[in-house]
Amino acid sequence: MFISVKEAIKKGSGEVKLRGWCYRARGSNALRFIILRDATDIIQCVVEKDKVSEESWDDAQKIDVEASFELSGEIVEDKRAPTGYEVKVKEIKLIGESIGWPIQKDQSTELLADLKHLWLRSRYMTSILKIRSTVFGAIHEYFRSKGFYEFQSPIFQATQAEGGSTLFSVNYFGKPVYLAQTWQLYAEPAIFALEKIYTIAPSFRAEKSKTSRHLTEYWHAEMEVAWATFKDIQDYGEELIKHVIKRVLEKNQEELKILNRDTKILEKVRDEPFIRMTYTDALKELKEKCNIDIEWGKDLRTIEEDELSKLHNQFLIVTNYPKEVKAFYMKEDDTDPKVVHGCDFIAPECYGEIIGGSERESDLEKIRTRLLDQGEDPEKYTFYLDTRRYGSVPHGGFGMGVERLISFICHLENIKDAIPFPRTMLRTTP
Ligand code: 4AD
Ligand code: MG
Repeated sequence: MFISVKEAIKKGSGEVKLRGWCYRARGSNALRFIILRDATDIIQCVVEKDKVSEESWDDAQKIDVEASFELSGEIVEDKRAPTGYEVKVKEIKLIGESIGWPIQKDQSTELLADLKHLWLRSRYMTSILKIRSTVFGAIHEYFRSKGFYEFQSPIFQATQAEGGSTLFSVNYFGKPVYLAQTWQLYAEPAIFALEKIYTIAPSFRAEKSKTSRHLTEYWHAEMEVAWATFKDIQDYGEELIKHVIKRVLEKNQEELKILNRDTKILEKVRDEPFIRMTYTDALKELKEKCNIDIEWGKDLRTIEEDELSKLHNQFLIVTNYPKEVKAFYMKEDDTDPKVVHGCDFIAPECYGEIIGGSERESDLEKIRTRLLDQGEDPEKYTFYLDTRRYGSVPHGGFGMGVERLISFICHLENIKDAIPFPRTMLRTTP
């Protein structure tokens, strides 16, 4: 029976049968060192010409980088080997040849992006993908443990929610519809049935900027809750991020090590409270501590978010933004109608906005006015406005960019590595 490399290392001695791919190979005409890689780990295997059959030796000669093969042999401890163990091969069989593997050391990011379908096999990408899997699992686990139902919304949508400039239009039998920017307008009607709901689904943004934070297709973890206060929404967001990071720290120490991730900041995010401040206080801080003067009413840009992030070295929850810079559905503050109950979660280490959320406006007329101000036809939003007509309740929710969170957790240079096959303005292949 075949076992995994990790199981073999755990076993530590005796006969093992393994299969996988060649991570590296070298040798002479009497001896060949082949490092076997499977989904779990790598291990050095030694083939000695004198100790194996002629067929085995022939196959061993043909096993080069990324060829697939299986073997049986004896595992022994060997401090010099990359993972501390070595397999003395008794039989080895080539399964799939790999001639001229196109990835060598130190290749350009562009070439690796062109070869992403092969680059996925690297220890680097494999580690990120394992962490990504933990992150998705932990998001589901968090919401389900809190009594949320998983709810799905349509991807083809007839209206915008997050501004017309990032809409992808699709020719839908001759009429334009848009790819979802968010599930929100369909989630709000559903909380009147289910009260607490969440999803993880792709969202689409026609982002024309080339940045290290923007994808055109990204995975969006969203939640919506009936009867929730603005504070509740912030608390859920903080708890969710802490839960995800806790799980990654429990399950992915090895991967974090492969990625050279300093885990101190992750532990701090897990253990210490997030810092909450209003937009107005954020401007004050930028002025006093960073000598950056922002006119009240202007949105925070990447540079300002980064400066705030450097000051605090912890997640920041910035609240009460000016109404003009935020979406039409955010609730106006009762005591200060210039601001809305919207919040952005800004990650440490300059990873930018990870969560955007708000308490939702319940006043139908205010929503209509703001739609009109944005040049939208409220008629198209009848289905949405009905939520305010029939048994409206205070409610709110947020959306979290899953790749943004993964980028921070793994300390990636670019969000493109947080997803296996990134879609950006300049890339739709592989
Ligand atoms: O701030 P946004 O636009 O908020 C919404 O879409 C709300 N409707 C969510 C809600 O309340 N249900 O997007 C939410 C998050 C951002 O904070 C960011 O993390 C991520 O989605 N995001 C992107 N991630 C990758 N690439 C992009 N182009 C992104 N645009 C937004
Ligand atoms: Mg936002």
